[in-house]
Amino acid sequence: MSFFKLTIRDVPLDHQTVLVRTDYNVPLATDGTISDDFRIRASLPTLHYLLDRGCKIVIISHLGRPDGRDSALSLEPVALRLAQLLRRDVRFVDDTIGDRVYQAIKRAPKVSITVLQNLRYYVDEEADSHEFAKKIAKATAARYFVQDGFGVVHRAHASTHAITLCIPSVAGFLLEHEYTIITGVMESPKRPLVAVMGGAKVSDKIAVIQRFVKVADKIIIGGAMANTFLAYKGISVGASKVEEGQRDVLDSIYAAARDKVGDKVDNLIILPVDLAVAPSLSIDSQRRVVKVGNLESDDIALDIGDISIERVAKEVNKALSVVWNGPLGYSEIPAFAHSSARLALVLATQPKTTSIIGGGDTADFVLKWDSKGGRSFTHVSTGGGASLELMAGDKLPGVESLLDAPRQIEYTNSNNHKQYI
Ligand code: 3PG
Repeated sequence: MSFFKLTIRDVPLDHQTVLVRTDYNVPLATDGTISDDFRIRASLPTLHYLLDRGCKIVIISHLGRPDGRDSALSLEPVALRLAQLLRRDVRFVDDTIGDRVYQAIKRAPKVSITVLQNLRYYVDEEADSHEFAKKIAKATAARYFVQDGFGVVHRAHASTHAITLCIPSVAGFLLEHEYTIITGVMESPKRPLVAVMGGAKVSDKIAVIQRFVKVADKIIIGGAMANTFLAYKGISVGASKVEEGQRDVLDSIYAAARDKVGDKVDNLIILPVDLAVAPSLSIDSQRRVVKVGNLESDDIALDIGDISIERVAKEVNKALSVVWNGPLGYSEIPAFAHSSARLALVLATQPKTTSIIGGGDTADFVLKWDSKGGRSFTHVSTGGGASLELMAGDKLPGVESLLDAPRQIEYTNSNNHKQYI
């Protein structure tokens, strides 16, 4: 499947100043250090490509959700980590617009990287302000804009949308790769396709579940979301977390499932048959497995049970494509990480299966679990909300606003066959 937008391969950017939007919204430890540099590492192929072509690179990103200037959310530590990963000098400017930026970039060596300060120090960023985007374009004097922050392309912000009205804009390798692999598995998967959905809330994932009802061969439901499904079916889940107000949504999900498979709905949408429970959520809580329907009134479901884990493993073993979105249990506590760990192991040892791991909590879990930094899977997404919206089939503003790749031209050759150029 080819990407429908121009990329850095398609434009003459040799020796030019290039503005790159990355998603360096990295997790920070309580002492302010970067606790996971996955998103920074994911930006390296594009940066290497641009460096090899003699570009003066200027990077913009956001970090967290600051309320104005907040030194705890400065991008300076990110610039330092980037320098370590690239093993070269990376400059940092404590501003995003204005003369200080202009002078710093003008003085920067022809082949160099400069990281600008957190875009969200300015309210104009999230307001998708055209004026703010113009100021970034002016201060950086960039010839091209490269969108490579996959994790943020579902936002219509100044650095994802308005900037594309100011500078010719193309995609970087990370964006191209994420988009192609995720739309590929949703539109033409190798089958069987199994979707594994976990996490806390049905409401966060309605659109994706609805899409999977159409495209997946099996949908496995786990995490706290499973409680809401079980409660909908009239099964008591003790003191477990159930999301209120989801009856209509679940009605429509089950109606679509019945349209697809008739009375075999429970074979399409697979719910747990047992649950791992504890009386409270704490690091010392013991794992006790009970059959669904047999929970005590004070039992809290914190993971799916052992029989359900076997069922997940069996379905995933048969799959040729698996999309996993949301941990299956409370995976921060080892006693309730059994299902997620088992699923990660099955996927990691099944190299012929295309395994796509959604961003956010699922990516955090597998990256901690995997000694190969995520390479045990076909793809670990850097995008949380962005990967969900893309899987749901939504158009992403940060992608739509880039320059279109010329469409293929269809013609009929002398043998009366359709060909494309
Ligand atoms: C993410 O972490 O999902 C992206 O960086 C977007 O961040 P946001 O949800 O604060 O817009």
